[in-house]
Amino acid sequence: MKKVIVITGASDGIGAAAARRLHAAGHTVVVVGRSPQKTRAVAEELGAESHIADFTRLADVTRLATELSAAHRHIDVLANNAGGMFGGHTRTVDGFEKTFQVNHLAPFLLTRLLLDTLLASGASVVQTSSTVRFTKTIDLDDLDHDRHFDEVHAYGAAKLENILFTSELHRRHHADGLAAASFYPGNVVTNFGSEVTSPVIRFVRRVAASPIARRALFSTPEQGADQLVWLAEGRPGTDWRSGAYYFRRKPTKPRNPQAADVDLARGLWERSEAMLAQQLRR
Ligand SMILES: NC(=O)c1ccc[n+]([C@@H]2O[C@H](COP(=O)([O-])OP(=O)(O)OC[C@H]3O[C@@H](n4cnc5c(N)ncnc54)[C@H](OP(=O)(O)O)[C@@H]3O)[C@@H](O)[C@H]2O)c1
Repeated sequence: MKKVIVITGASDGIGAAAARRLHAAGHTVVVVGRSPQKTRAVAEELGAESHIADFTRLADVTRLATELSAAHRHIDVLANNAGGMFGGHTRTVDGFEKTFQVNHLAPFLLTRLLLDTLLASGASVVQTSSTVRFTKTIDLDDLDHDRHFDEVHAYGAAKLENILFTSELHRRHHADGLAAASFYPGNVVTNFGSEVTSPVIRFVRRVAASPIARRALFSTPEQGADQLVWLAEGRPGTDWRSGAYYFRRKPTKPRNPQAADVDLARGLWERSEAMLAQQLRR
C-alpha cells in the first residue's frame, strides 16, 4: 500500500535517508526541515512537497500543522525525527529549554495539532529516540533543567520523553485506531552533536571521523534510517507492536526503569499540555 508519510528532520541525516528510500518505494513523502536551503534541496531531488519549521519557535510548529492539515486530509505516518543535542542551556523564544523543546515539546505539539487527521487516517506516529541507558532521572518539576543543566543529560531526558510520549499516545489513542512506536537508530554518523561542547561527544565525533573506526563502530545514515522506513511501511499489529520501543527491528525493553513508568508518561503528557495551553487553545 502506498502511503502519505510526513518526516520531520528530513533535510539531513537519518530523516533525509529515510525520505529517499520511502520515495524510491513509491510513497508520497512530505519533507519537513529547518534549513530552507537543505530542505528544498532534498525536496527538489525527490520532487516532493516540503515545509519549513524551526522547532525552537512554537509558532512555526503551529503554522506547520495548519499547512499540513490544509494539504492532507489523510496522513498515514508522522515520523517525529527532527532533533539533536545542543550546547549550553539556551531558552527559546517561547521560554523553554532548547533541547527539551526541539526534541519533545515541538513534536508533542505537532502531533496534538494533527491528532484529528491522524486519528481519521488510522495513522502511525514514529519517534526517533535513542538509547536511554545512561539517562538520569526525569524530573517533571524541572523539565527545563533550570536546577542543573548538562547537555548530554538534557538530550537523554528528551529521548526518554520520546519513549514516554509514545507509550502514552498508544495508551490514549490506540483503541481509536492510532499506532505509535519509538526506536533507537544506533550510533549513526550524521551532523548530530556538531554544536555540542561536551568532551564525551567531541571525543565520539573525533572517533567517528576515522574511516576505520567509523566502519567498525558506526552506521551510515542509510543504515540508521532502516527502522524508520520499516516502521513507516509496516503494519502495526502485524509487523510491529504499537506502544513499543524498537532496536534493530526488535521490540526492546529500554535500559532505563523510568521508560516503563506509566504515571510518569501520563504526568509528562499533562505537563506538556499545560505548557502548550496557549497553542492548543486554537
Ligand atoms: N546520529 C545518531 O547517532 C543518533 C542516535 C540516536 C538518535 N538520533 C536521533 O536521530 C534524529 C535525527 O538526527 P540525525 O542523527 O539524522 O542528525 P542530523 O543529521 O543533525 O539531522 C537532524 C535533523 O533535525 C533537524 N533539526 C535540528 N534542529 C532543529 C530545529 N530547531 N527545528 C527543526 N528541525 C531541526 C535538522 O535540520 P537542519 O538540517 O536544518 O540542521 C535535521 O534535519 C534526531 O532526533 C536524533 O536525536 C541520532
